[in-house]
Amino acid sequence: MTKKNIALLAGGRSSEREVSLTGGEQVFQALDKDKYNVLRYDPKTDLGRLVADAPQIDVALIIMHGPYGEDGTVQGLLDLLDIPYQGAGVLGSAVAMNKFISKQLYEKAGLPVPAYCTLTHRDQSPTSEIVDRLGLPLVVKPVACGSSIGMSIVHEPEKLPAAIAKAFEQDDTVLIEEYIDGVELTGGVLGNDKPEALPIIEIIPNDDHEFFDYEAKYIAGLTNEICPARIDGELTAKAQDYARRAHTALALRGYSRTDMILKNREMYVLETNTIPGMTPTSLMPQAAKAAGYDFGQLLDRLIDLGLKVHHDGKRPA
Ligand SMILES: Nc1ncnc2c1ncn2[C@@H]1O[C@H](COP(=O)(O)OP(=O)(O)O)[C@@H](O)[C@H]1O
Ligand SMILES: [Mg+2]
Repeated sequence: MTKKNIALLAGGRSSEREVSLTGGEQVFQALDKDKYNVLRYDPKTDLGRLVADAPQIDVALIIMHGPYGEDGTVQGLLDLLDIPYQGAGVLGSAVAMNKFISKQLYEKAGLPVPAYCTLTHRDQSPTSEIVDRLGLPLVVKPVACGSSIGMSIVHEPEKLPAAIAKAFEQDDTVLIEEYIDGVELTGGVLGNDKPEALPIIEIIPNDDHEFFDYEAKYIAGLTNEICPARIDGELTAKAQDYARRAHTALALRGYSRTDMILKNREMYVLETNTIPGMTPTSLMPQAAKAAGYDFGQLLDRLIDLGLKVHHDGKRPA
């Protein structure tokens, strides 16, 4: 069997650069070197080399998060270079990166979402109106970011302006949501057109972390992640159904991981990650493991799904 030349892309210039570099290293270690020649690129510095090498590359693995990696820009470049890659295409990546656009598509698909509003720099309305409408606590987040960067939970009305300013440091648009007090779940799916739903994971940050913030996400031991989640069969089926429907509603393919909060036997969809964290202990690989794919097998499957889209000649969604 001839080895495939894989372009492994990690790094980039988003605020999740470090997370991406860590994931890229772990993916490099796990890729089967009997099957793949791995060529490594950091899009922050190596785009010229990637373009020059394109004719030799069989497939790319994009292990990047946030803008300029997970948002369709890199996917568009790879489409232009005729390089297949894992996961969502240009449209799905761009849509899923934007939590406001995603919400509108979830709502259209009948998926419950927390009540919300958005703000741009042009909006002058007093923050008291937001509190009147959505109540307290509130969750304030940049509309297109990840890893909880720029996010706050606001309990007192006077703290809302500072939380909004913090989110504006990351983005031109800020999303404000009602706080859902419940059990946090995440649901991975794997596949292109009819994706398989993986076991649901329950996420419990420790008492020092009010929510699943940056530290709780990346410092080992701060969060208890339980797979499968301790919910009954009916709720599991519902969470898996929501994860699959979110994947379809956002025009995704290959894989995705949808974050939800369970309250009173209903789940509220927060967001869908098109390039979920990719170390062996990250949530999606944990769920895949529970479904029988070890980390290397998960990577093989993602590569095969990406090649299949390309082989079938589908237009990039
Ligand atoms: N509406 C909400 N109610 C309660 N907790 C929330 C809400 N929105 C976000 N969170 C908390 O913040 C975390 C990050 O929010 P999320 O929307 O998933 O953005 P990110 O892209 O940063 O992961 C969630 O995992 C959850 O712990
Ligand atoms: Mg999330």
